[in-house]
Order: sequence, then structure tokens, then C-alpha cells
Amino acid sequence: MNGAAVQKSATLEIRSGEDIVRIRQEVRAWSVEQGFSLVDQTKIVTAASELARNTVTYGGGGTAKLEAVTNGTRRGLRLTFEDKGPGIPDINLALKDGYTTGTGLGLGLSGARRLSNEFYISSKLGEGTRVSILRWK
Ligand SMILES: Nc1ncnc2c1ncn2[C@@H]1O[C@H](COP(=O)(O)OP(=O)(O)O)[C@@H](O)[C@H]1O
Ligand SMILES: [Mg+2]
Repeated sequence: MNGAAVQKSATLEIRSGEDIVRIRQEVRAWSVEQGFSLVDQTKIVTAASELARNTVTYGGGGTAKLEAVTNGTRRGLRLTFEDKGPGIPDINLALKDGYTTGTGLGLGLSGARRLSNEFYISSKLGEGTRVSILRWK
């Protein structure tokens, strides 16, 4: 992904609301370590929270990989959420503001995309979903 060199990484399980809290805390800590401003910390924590929630709600649980990356002197944080759930039939539709198949606001995926500098999603029906975001300092 764009010549980003991984300096440190960790993979966390996401099964419950408690795991989501833990991911929020870890992402906050890693973003502080990467020198993110308070505003940027909050952006990536918010995005992580939405994606982790989707992993639990729609994916039936999965993992979050945190990666501290650099590109030259630029520092960033890449987060990858993966599940082996049902997958997303129409990704473009799922990315539309307000689209939900659940009881949410339908702003999670679209919000996470807006809050990130890079956003990648791949999903296969019956196999699962992977969403990766990167935010540079
Ligand atoms: N990991 C996932 N697995 C399967 N479907 C998903 C996943 N993440 C999102 N979706 C689908 O995309 C829709 C939009 O997600 P999102 O924007 O977070 O809104 P919300 O969570 O409020 O429904 C969800 O309602 C769901 O249908
Ligand atoms: Mg959501």
C-alpha cells in the first residue's frame, strides 16, 4: 500500500463491545505515539470504532490489525478490519451515506472513508469482508 513501511504491528480480536473499547484505546495510544494531533487522533479513533462495530454487528466478529507505518519522514497509522462473515453484496451501496441493513445510521463506512486519507474495501459473498484505512500525520 503506497510504499508505507511497517514499523510495528499488532492484531486484536473483535468479538464484543469490550473489544471495541479496547481497540479505541489502542488506536488512541498508537496515534499519540505517531505524533497525531488531538483532532487526528479523534478522527482515526472514530473511524476505528465504526469499522470495529461493523465487524461485530455484521461480520460476526473478526480481527483488527494495527500498523504504525512510515513513508520517508511521514508517519501514519494503518488499520485493517477483517471478518469471515456474509460479505457485502453491493459495496457502492454500502458506502452511501444513510444506507443500512441494520438499525444504524448508515454512516459508518462512509464516515470512516471521509476520516481517512486512504480507504480500501474488499468483500466476497459468503467469505467475508476486509476494510483497510490509513491516516497520515
Ligand atoms: N463487515 C461487514 N460485513 C457485512 N456487511 C457489512 C459490513 N460492514 C458493513 N456492512 C454493510 O454495510 C452497511 C452500511 O454500514 P455502515 O455505513 O457502517 O452503517 P450501519 O452500521 O449504520 O448499518 C451495513 O448496514 C451492512 O449492510
Ligand atoms: Mg456501521
